Amino acid sequence: MTERTFVMVKPDGVSRRLIGECIRRFEQRGLKLVGMKMLTLSRQQAERHYAEHEGQPYYEGLIAFIVSGPSVQMVWEGEDAIAQVRKMNGATNSLNAEVGTIRGDFALSGRRNIVHASDSPETAAREIALYFKDEELLHYAMPDEDWLR
Ligand code: CDP
Ligand code: MG
Repeated sequence: MTERTFVMVKPDGVSRRLIGECIRRFEQRGLKLVGMKMLTLSRQQAERHYAEHEGQPYYEGLIAFIVSGPSVQMVWEGEDAIAQVRKMNGATNSLNAEVGTIRGDFALSGRRNIVHASDSPETAAREIALYFKDEELLHYAMPDEDWLR
């Protein structure tokens, strides 16, 4: 099924000049970029984004990290986009992330793990709405689309 998923290149990914590497991988896979912006998250945006983690021992450190510098917000569309991007990002803790995934190729940390992606259709809808208005999301055709579903 064609899905849209929310992806963020976190402040470590921006600082380590990995925005292009992340975009290249998603494009190469056949996904379509339908929304993009760059922001330094406010504390309030960060708390909304990571609301389900409130109370966890790592929560304060996670919020401090995610607001520490600019991040890139994107929406990617494609067949099973939500699960595909999660696989491409790799396991949360870089120690467990397979080589070949973004985290497995570029990260060593359990927190500074380069990239975020939605984990379900419900999460994707919620996260996309946190950062994008409807009119900021594009609808357009790609000439190779029939080969990618
Ligand atoms: O990002 P993902 O969905 O793979 O993992 P999560 O379990 O939803 O956790 C969200 C983020 O919190 C992770 O990507 C890490 O950046 C951070 N985290 C952390 O700092 N320390 C932990 N023990 C677990 C997660
Ligand atoms: Mg998560």
